Order: sequence, then structure tokens, then C-alpha cells
Amino acid sequence: MKEAALNAGPHSEYSAVMKLRAVLFDAYGTLFDVHSVALLAEQLFPGYGERLSLLWRDKQIEYTRLVSMSGLGGEHYRPFWELTRAGLRFAAARLGLTLEAPAEDRLMNQYRHLSAFPENRDVLAELQRRGVPAGILSNGDPEMLAVAVKSAGFGELLQHVISVHPVRRYKTDPAVYALGTAAFALPAREILFVSSNCWDAIGATWFGYTTLWVNRTGAPLDPLGIEPSHSGRSLRDVLAHFPA
Ligand code: LAC
Repeated sequence: MKEAALNAGPHSEYSAVMKLRAVLFDAYGTLFDVHSVALLAEQLFPGYGERLSLLWRDKQIEYTRLVSMSGLGGEHYRPFWELTRAGLRFAAARLGLTLEAPAEDRLMNQYRHLSAFPENRDVLAELQRRGVPAGILSNGDPEMLAVAVKSAGFGELLQHVISVHPVRRYKTDPAVYALGTAAFALPAREILFVSSNCWDAIGATWFGYTTLWVNRTGAPLDPLGIEPSHSGRSLRDVLAHFPA
């Protein structure tokens, strides 16, 4: 009976009683505010802080896709830290800003210690209190993630901090999402995958996770004919999916 239930399709009786057993968070943009660097960017380049921060993020993600999709064996892979630096250099050049080494180092250092969104600690602590295992699955390389998790004080609250690094591919490659199901030893649909990046929530939905898009900014849905399983406005919306 149990086996039949595990193999049941999305519209089966089993899915109606399906229990979510774990939570997997995206890191950058979801737990850590990537645009918290805009403040320092504004100090260094008055009038350009927000634009620099947005373009930096876009380029960083574009480069993850470029290196991931070019080459079959991960031969063009470079760690997220390097792609983050490349994205910063491009963004500054594109905006006509001269990025001297000290300013670059300060911005990169700020990126290492991004602020966590204010509600996150309470949500992670509450999940722990409810007995729900939680983890991170991120494009970030292991060192970046370790520093970010430590500086936010999340270490004790996360059972897994999973980086794409071992597979040398980036989201939304299925090999990356498979790292999460392997770590929790659970089927994807029993894990709530939480991301503030719509594209990541979509990639995870395609993979088979139950997903929550935390749409903090009220962004439009990427109109690709697929929707995340749920959407919300803050990380607190995660708690609605687990009994108190
Ligand atoms: C991450 C990127 C998508 O943390 O923000 O994986």
C-alpha cells in the first residue's frame, strides 16, 4: 500500500493527503538580501547604487547559465564567487564606472556578508521547533555559503547546506535539484522548495518539488505556462505548510 502510494501520480488520493516533510531554501535573494549591497554601492558611486546592484545580480545569474550550458562535462564551470566578481566588473563597466581594486574588494566583501531578511531567523527557529528539517540548496560555493550562514547565525537551524559545486553545474540543471532530494532522502514532492527567484521556483517545480515562490517585490510571474505550487510575500508563508 505504501509503495503504491509513493508511486501515485499528482491527482491520486495519495497527493490529497501528502505530507511535506522538509524545507529546502534557496540562499541568495531568498535567505540573504542580494540587494543589501546597494547601500555600499551607493556610497561608492552616488546615484548608481541600485542600478549597479541590479545589473550585478543579473549578470551573475547570466554567467551561471552560460558556464553551465556550455559544455557537457562541466568544463566551463567556475565557482559562484568568481562569477559574482565577473558580474560586478561587467556591471561597473556597463555603467561607465571606474572600479578600482579597493572598491571592488569592499563590494565583494559586502557580498560575502549579505544581510538576511529580518523574518528569516524566526521562521527557521519555528521550523526547528515544529520538528521540520530545513536546508539550503544554492548556486553559492561552499565557502561563500559557510560564511553567509555563519554570519547570519543560521548554522544550528539548518540540517543541510548544499552547494552546486560538486556537480559543476548551476540551477536550473536537474542534477543540481537532485542534490536536495538525495540529502533528505525524500521524494521531491515531499519537500517544500522555497525561492524568491521565480525562475528557480519554476526550475524546482519542473524537477518535481512542491514549491513556494516568496515574491517579496510583487514581481509578475514568468509567463512560461507553469506556476510554482504556492506563492507568498515573506518567508513566514512557509509556516502555513507545516502544523504548529
Ligand atoms: C542561489 C541563487 C539562485 O542561491 O540565488 O542559488
